[in-house]
Amino acid sequence: MWSSIVLLLALASQLISVVATPAQRPAQQPFKYPLSNGFPNLGPTDPAVAQIQQQAHGTLPNRASALDISSQSALVWELIAFNALFEVAFFTSLLNNLTHNGPGLVPDAAERQTVIDTITVIQAQEELNVLGANAILGGAERPPVQPCEYIFPSSTLYEALAFAITLTDLTIGTLQFASSTFGTEGDVQFLPLIGAIIGQKGERNGFFRERLGKLPTALPLLTEIGDPIFTRSFLQQTVTYPGSCPSGQQVGFPVLPSLTILTKNIQSTTKTIQYSFTNGTLPDTTNLSLAYINQLNHPIVVPLQGVGVSKNTVTFTADFPWAQNLLNGLIVATVVAGHGPFDAPGDAAAAALFGPGLIETWSPVSYSFNRKEVKDHGEGGAIVGASLRGKNVLVIDDVVTAGTAMRETMELVAREGGEVVGFVVALDRKERRPSTGEKEEGVIDEEPRSSALGQIRKEFGVPSASIITLDDLINVLKTKGEKNDRERLEDYRRKYLASD
Ligand SMILES: *[C@@H]1O[C@H](CO)[C@@H](O)[C@H](O)[C@H]1NC(C)=O
Ligand SMILES: *[C@@H]1O[C@H](CO)[C@@H](O)[C@H](O)[C@H]1NC(C)=O
Ligand SMILES: *[C@@H]1O[C@H](CO)[C@@H](O)[C@H](O)[C@H]1NC(C)=O
Repeated sequence: MWSSIVLLLALASQLISVVATPAQRPAQQPFKYPLSNGFPNLGPTDPAVAQIQQQAHGTLPNRASALDISSQSALVWELIAFNALFEVAFFTSLLNNLTHNGPGLVPDAAERQTVIDTITVIQAQEELNVLGANAILGGAERPPVQPCEYIFPSSTLYEALAFAITLTDLTIGTLQFASSTFGTEGDVQFLPLIGAIIGQKGERNGFFRERLGKLPTALPLLTEIGDPIFTRSFLQQTVTYPGSCPSGQQVGFPVLPSLTILTKNIQSTTKTIQYSFTNGTLPDTTNLSLAYINQLNHPIVVPLQGVGVSKNTVTFTADFPWAQNLLNGLIVATVVAGHGPFDAPGDAAAAALFGPGLIETWSPVSYSFNRKEVKDHGEGGAIVGASLRGKNVLVIDDVVTAGTAMRETMELVAREGGEVVGFVVALDRKERRPSTGEKEEGVIDEEPRSSALGQIRKEFGVPSASIITLDDLINVLKTKGEKNDRERLEDYRRKYLASD
């Protein structure tokens, strides 16, 4: 018996991986601390900490860390705590949306539960990261980092996961900087700890990536950002509710004015990207370049092209040399003074004037499938994998009989915001559709009729193809099969051959 799983290949990805919103007060209500368990205002002996550890599936280190750390190392721990406070807020909000907004956010119940279970653990692990970083700062007699209020650039699960991938890659880049600082500053007792956190972030990003139909592992070597200015700027520009941070709290490292990425839907085939930046005074654009930081390579410097200036805003395009450089994983774009060249990401950061633009490319081909399970709610969608919104979709099925599944798929794809551009079936039986008489009374007639596939072709104006047909099958049976089987198939073909 043929199973009826339908694979959906999304040909033209429309996923946007980049978020860079200028700092203006949004309509959205900001996320505010504390959480219901009192977080982040928890002492080490607070019972809530034990609960968080349960939920995180593990504990904070119970070995004391050195009290005496360099002031540069302390700045880095402040940034780690600042970043982790945002991550807790983000995952708390996502969890809340998933558990309270019902099936709207993720139509598929099993998929929703897997995501909820995973985010529940991640949220607690991130709470421990905050408590741990603040404990290290406390040990060094520095005040703990206090939260701001936050806004999130996502509303659907898929947007949230795409954002989480970028955020996590940025955090991994920040932790690489942290380890090199701790090494330089002689605070080497933190190096195993940083390694442990980086590994945990990598595990979680594999999960997020897979949810979106990407391969779980992105690169041989994850992007080193070289300077925390990019993380600090991103958090300030994009997710911190303007004016909401505790007064007097300094989180070291300056904040750049933002660089907006205007091109949506950046794929591994994208050749140029459009950007803009706005500032009170504009620099001389002839002496500016765009630098891309990716993996552990020299930053790539490309010229600004088609520069347009309007009031305080500069718009330009720049090459996106994906193919020559295999730009995968996190790519940090920044407008720099001069034309380079730069040896390391830190050198590009030192010349950075606007940024960061955070890019994660998407393969132009992604895939999803419809889960075969009982639909227990009205929406009925059950797409697992890449979102279909705005995409051209090639539908793949093993075999078509009456075309009912194909029609349902057309509806499902339309409901999910995609457009079916073709059908492929493994085997075309070239069998004519049954007449009403045949269906109701079982009387076989001799009327010529089209096949289900042919009917769908006509009905929806969508091309279709098959890998093999009944004729191929019969031809193979001529040399390889039983004569009886072949003759039965030939009989069947004579009786039921479709007119198209
Ligand atoms: C949760 O839903 C609200 C309301 O739609 C939205 O503003 C917020 O960004 C969502 N949170 C996340 C993390 O996507
Ligand atoms: C941005 O504007 C400020 C205030 O006008 C100015 O001090 C600064 O130099 C400008 N930045 C650049 C890169 O030109
Ligand atoms: C261009 O920028 C570089 C880097 O800031 C600087 O060294 C150089 O003097 C600038 N050149 C001109 C012509 O302004």
